[in-house]
Amino acid sequence: MGVHDDLHARARTVMPSWLNPYYTNPIAIDRGEGCRVWDLEGNSYLDFFGGVLTTMCGHAVPEVVEAIQAQAAKVLHTSTLYLSEPLIELSEMVCELSGIPDARVFFTPSGSEANDAALMLATIYRRSNQILAMRNSYHGRSFSTVAVTSHKSWSPTSLTGLQVNFVQGGYRLRSPFRDLDDDAYTAACLQDLTDVLDMMTSGDVAALIAEPIQGVGGFTTPPDGFFGSMKKTLDNDGILFISDEVQTGWGRTGEHFWGYQAHDIIPDMLTFAKGVGNGLAIAGVVARAEIMNSMPGVHFSTFGGNPLNSAGALANLKYLLDNDLQANSLARGEQFHARMQPVVDANDGIAELRGRGLMLAIETVQPGSIEPAPGAATSILQNCRDRGLLVGKGGLYGNVIRVAPPLSVSAEEIDEASDIFTEAIAASYA
Ligand SMILES: Cc1ncc(COP(=O)(O)O)c(C=O)c1O
Repeated sequence: MGVHDDLHARARTVMPSWLNPYYTNPIAIDRGEGCRVWDLEGNSYLDFFGGVLTTMCGHAVPEVVEAIQAQAAKVLHTSTLYLSEPLIELSEMVCELSGIPDARVFFTPSGSEANDAALMLATIYRRSNQILAMRNSYHGRSFSTVAVTSHKSWSPTSLTGLQVNFVQGGYRLRSPFRDLDDDAYTAACLQDLTDVLDMMTSGDVAALIAEPIQGVGGFTTPPDGFFGSMKKTLDNDGILFISDEVQTGWGRTGEHFWGYQAHDIIPDMLTFAKGVGNGLAIAGVVARAEIMNSMPGVHFSTFGGNPLNSAGALANLKYLLDNDLQANSLARGEQFHARMQPVVDANDGIAELRGRGLMLAIETVQPGSIEPAPGAATSILQNCRDRGLLVGKGGLYGNVIRVAPPLSVSAEEIDEASDIFTEAIAASYA
């Protein structure tokens, strides 16, 4: 039995059955450097999924490692009962970067908790438990975020204290409006939003929560300006807009620092997680002060923004900005797109290549239709791994391959990954 087989057998005896590692023969990643990782059996891979869009600046970035080591040697944890230099400096930076006026930020250890805090704030501020979310959304694994998640396989319970309605627009390929052009598509979704507000709510809805590009949903990308149009309708009723930037934040989409910027709006709140800590457990919600400060009583998160995570996140964000990784994301994303578009066009088992910057996906279908083909996606995933490339899977039907390397990826690494991806697709359809 190999090292991986042995670990897998041990995991199955003590971990939940629903924690499914990738591949029939899962691997354990032992170490990483930049965009490359090595498994416990000594094989190396290009990491083009970054632990689900989380390794943002690359593995073992010296500046980030040094900041974590220096902070770990001083103090790991103090809690927000005491002032913390790294937390306050990070808060100043995140508020400034958020684009939200008079911003306040609250840190949590995960994206689910960040969205949970945003939903709680919205319901308190608006005195309503009515929430809108997009079809095909994913907002986390906690009790409240499962309620605003529109994915059967990620929705283990329908129990909730929220009154949730899901509106059209997130997933164009499978939308009844898919054949319309951008403007007509947006108009049709807007009409759906109006219908939902008029027919399914009592009018005083608290908020719409939306991912500018749906992550788990398969990097589904609405037309530019889509959420701007939605927000005009929401504004008429004072309904808040929460932009879930857990996957789209920090320049990953290339053209913009935040996903919401493709829609010419400023959200009332935004949530972030994943990339900000480059692997450290740090996330949070940014809101205008009047919304953030509307929380009555005391609110506290033991690990939220602790000194270790804050110092690491601070070094990570400085590295991102100093090296203009947003510009790199745009250039490398365009490079990958240009390499893969002809491959996708030539294969009628792939419906489309979509996404932005370094957030790109292909959706596998039965040839000539939009009938999902999850087996083809599983095969591509495995064929990539066998050739030294780690990518991700997702989508409503598990038929989407997601590509999201660290934003520091080089042109050579994109070329290498494009070659492997092309071969893996060919092998999967042979
Ligand atoms: C858009 C989005 N929101 C929220 C979450 C939940 O974040 P976490 O897994 O850190 O709780 C995720 C996780 O994948 C996500 O993709």
